[in-house]
Amino acid sequence: MKLIFSLLSLYFILTGSLLADTKQAETGSVGATISKNLTEELRKGKEKVQTICSACHGLDGVAASGGNSVIIPNLTAQHKDYLIAKLKDYKSGKVNHPQMTLIAQMLTDDEIEYVSEWYSRIKIRIFDPNLILAKPSN
Ligand code: HEC
Repeated sequence: MKLIFSLLSLYFILTGSLLADTKQAETGSVGATISKNLTEELRKGKEKVQTICSACHGLDGVAASGGNSVIIPNLTAQHKDYLIAKLKDYKSGKVNHPQMTLIAQMLTDDEIEYVSEWYSRIKIRIFDPNLILAKPSN
């Protein structure tokens, strides 16, 4: 009897903590606004993004719609290595762009890593295009 009771409480403790974990995962986006929850790299990336990049690309990587923004790409969830490669190409002058070349030249190689870490870590959810683009049923 005692054994069954201990097993039962163990079960409740385990499922309880699993539930707590799920809850934490769901509120992850809120947690990230508390800077102590961020890694050092993400914290530095966020600071740079807030001061330089967010005016055009948004803090979350969704291009802000200020006037000339049709040609500003979204950066959300883009691969980190891709972002680093692009920024280094702008910085070296391999790719020349009136805004991005100047901006990339303001960044150290470490800062390029940090901002790329920031934008690449933002999660998005992809919906099945077959369902989204299906003909309306009526
Ligand atoms: C003044 C507006 C502006 C600001 C500020 C700005 N960007 Fe950009 N960014 C652009 C535009 C416009 C492009 C498209 C350039 C092109 O066509 O080559 C671009 C392109 C990029 C690309 C290439 C994306 C791709 O898919 O080719 C990256 C990466 C990028 N920006 C990162 C950043 C980061 C990181 C910052 C902050 C340090 C930043 N940008 C700040 C306007 C801006």
